[in-house]
Amino acid sequence: MEKRVSSISPLYSFFMLLSLLFVSVSSSSRIQSNPTPTPWPHQFHSILVMNFSGSNEIINLWYDWTNGRNFNIIQKQLGDVTYDCEWNNGTSFVWTSKKCSRAQLEVGILVPNWLDGAKYLGQQTVDGFLCNVWEKVDFIWYYEDVVTKRPVHWVFYTGRSAHVMTFEVGAVLEDEHWQAPAHCFEGGEKEVNNSDGFTESSMEGVLRSKMVGLNKYKSPSISSF
Ligand SMILES: *[C@@H]1O[C@H](CO)[C@@H](O)[C@H](O)[C@H]1NC(C)=O
Ligand SMILES: *[C@@H]1O[C@H](CO)[C@@H](O)[C@H](O)[C@H]1NC(C)=O
Ligand SMILES: *[C@@H]1O[C@H](CO)[C@@H](O)[C@H](O)[C@H]1NC(C)=O
Repeated sequence: MEKRVSSISPLYSFFMLLSLLFVSVSSSSRIQSNPTPTPWPHQFHSILVMNFSGSNEIINLWYDWTNGRNFNIIQKQLGDVTYDCEWNNGTSFVWTSKKCSRAQLEVGILVPNWLDGAKYLGQQTVDGFLCNVWEKVDFIWYYEDVVTKRPVHWVFYTGRSAHVMTFEVGAVLEDEHWQAPAHCFEGGEKEVNNSDGFTESSMEGVLRSKMVGLNKYKSPSISSF
């Protein structure tokens, strides 16, 4: 009995070895094929902590692809709140309690798969999370949790960086909050100067324009914007 087992077992372990070899070869080839960024959910709310050259902000980001709108509510540390509301028709309103500026971009809000085509850079631990890292058109470096696939961190080429503190998939801001205030519609176009950094908040909008512009150039399917 014992003898028979021992005569079978070398053959058995040979097949074991072979199958292990096969599994390890196939799994290593799976690792080598680069992961792709998870598309953004069609609706979510995130609280972002922003750091730009040591100046801190908290942004409430309401991404709402379903309704064609995107909202950044920006609290500067011990400062004003700036509302940056972007519509898919290219119109964006940026306002505070006192001022408002309106911009017309050629592009709408970011599409859910706006990171498609990003270059995979490997894995890195950021903010204590093991992340897959991508870079897109020298514009943004994007860090996504390897396990949960949630965004953890991103950095714009300007050095402006976001730490994702919450990520509530499916959260939607009520319609009434998206309405730009009356002073956005009084007295026509208002000139806004750079001096107080007011236009800085809409920077992402401009960058987005550049970004989608490049996308458009690369893939004609986005040219509907
Ligand atoms: C914020 O940015 C500054 C300069 O870019 C850096 O020195 C500092 O460590 C950053 N702070 C945090 C909390 O990331
Ligand atoms: C785009 O949509 C917003 C929100 O409905 C509206 O206020 C704005 O006037 C529209 N812009 C254009 C160019 O139609
Ligand atoms: C913007 O700055 C220019 C020159 O510095 C000034 O003449 C103009 O009144 C300013 N506009 C606003 C809206 O503050």
